[in-house]
Amino acid sequence: MDNNTLKLVVIVGSVREGRFGPVVASWIAEQAGLHGGFDVDVVDLAEIDIPLSLPAASPKFAGDAYPRPAGMAALTSALEGADAFIVVTPEYNHSYPASLKAAIDWHFTQWTAKPVAFVSYGGAAGGRHAVLHLENVLTELHAVTVRDGLAFPNYFTAWQDGRPLDPAAPGYAKTLLDQLVWWAGALRSAREAAPYPA
Ligand SMILES: Cc1cc2nc3c(=O)[nH]c(=O)nc-3n(C[C@H](O)[C@H](O)[C@H](O)COP(=O)(O)O)c2cc1C
Repeated sequence: MDNNTLKLVVIVGSVREGRFGPVVASWIAEQAGLHGGFDVDVVDLAEIDIPLSLPAASPKFAGDAYPRPAGMAALTSALEGADAFIVVTPEYNHSYPASLKAAIDWHFTQWTAKPVAFVSYGGAAGGRHAVLHLENVLTELHAVTVRDGLAFPNYFTAWQDGRPLDPAAPGYAKTLLDQLVWWAGALRSAREAAPYPA
């Protein structure tokens, strides 16, 4: 991959003990690698220090001066350098995990004018409510959410040996990645051409 290759960050949103998230994240990261449009990095929120208590000021205006903990540096730098994101999220009480909300709230400009796609899993709804909430929140940060996501209802019977049993899943992943790479290229060119008027 050269320096111009679009950078994709796959975020593992759940930090629960015994969580399933890393299985889903590994699979979609593998699909992204096979797709070939991105340089792929996986960021696991369980490995990041993400306090619930925020500094007094908003990260929207503080820039590099925002006082983040040292243990958050890897996350901030990954978000900063990303051209696109895939958020891997479960559904907790018809929304997404608090770990993900905290990671989002500690940042602002790192999301701006960048595309975000979703891979969700859960019970009957497959994480649908979590994704609807994330779309709403990320719009506030001027991110662009991608229409075609992947949702895995009843993932406990729908996955085996680290892969979805549905043979159509890699095809759906390719559609998501095709749309994400299009947006990532278009928005990177736009960000380079002129500052986003946020
Ligand atoms: C606190 C909590 C709330 C949950 N609420 C929902 C829910 O509203 N809808 C759903 O489909 N699954 C729900 N589940 C089931 C999760 O989708 C399932 O446990 C999944 O494995 C969680 O992802 P994780 O293993 O990566 O943490 C809930 C699980 C937890 C722990």
